[in-house]
Amino acid sequence: MGAPSASYGPDADERKKVTATDILSRKRGKKIVSVTAYDYSTAKLVDSAGIDIVLVGDSLGMVVLGYPDTTRVTMDDMVHHTAAVARAWPKALVVADLPFLAAGVSVRDTIGNAGRLVREAGAEAVKLEGGMRVRDEIRALVDCQIPVMGHVGLTPQSIHAFGGFKVQGRTQEAAEQVLRDAVAVQEGGAFAVVLEGIPSRLGERITRELAIPTIGIGAGPGCDGQVLVFHDMLHLFLDFTPKFTKSYVEVGDSIRAALVDFREEVRDGQFPAAEHCY
Ligand code: KIV
Repeated sequence: MGAPSASYGPDADERKKVTATDILSRKRGKKIVSVTAYDYSTAKLVDSAGIDIVLVGDSLGMVVLGYPDTTRVTMDDMVHHTAAVARAWPKALVVADLPFLAAGVSVRDTIGNAGRLVREAGAEAVKLEGGMRVRDEIRALVDCQIPVMGHVGLTPQSIHAFGGFKVQGRTQEAAEQVLRDAVAVQEGGAFAVVLEGIPSRLGERITRELAIPTIGIGAGPGCDGQVLVFHDMLHLFLDFTPKFTKSYVEVGDSIRAALVDFREEVRDGQFPAAEHCY
């Protein structure tokens, strides 16, 4: 049993550890749910809600580190944050992103970088962006016993090549390319693939044609699962809100109200009260 503070979800404490094989077996089954986390406390919260995959996404570059996009995130950033998440010992599968240029350059570098995420940080699987161009790297990682999740469509590390955060696969030709990329990820041996920023009909088609689960973000309801960025779903990241995210609660407003209360209580001498003093 977990600590009392960690029992938010209906079956959170009783759950058995989620593995990459479990996720693979959920194709066309119970929908897969994934949320990002970048630190120990958040990972505990996410896990206690019975989420299947805790993703240490390189989105941390934007929502935690304040970069304009994910291309500045380093391997050291990913190791640091993944280790914090892994220290929460989540039942959820811990997947860590390979950041910009940590994959896609050479098989040798990709194995070394993925190895750091597993060995130094405690990741149980890695995610890398790209399709056909990284098929051999996915294969090499899987051969090294590192489970891989793919990521195709609007891959944020390609923002400069795409000319911005632009929905992919809108034309017939572009749609075929996203499909080919997803198939390449499957051929490489990935256990699942994230589909990001593509039309819903394409998300549905890819999901139908692949034997591995698809996990969508801005890819419509037809996917085998969905992933959201923690800071988006709590409306903690206020710079901009992509169309595909949903804010389930306005946590930012509650936090600001609490901070204002603290400020006022300190200023008018209400805090600390007798019960807070030794
Ligand atoms: O970095 C990230 O958080 C991601 C998800 C949005 C899929 O890659």
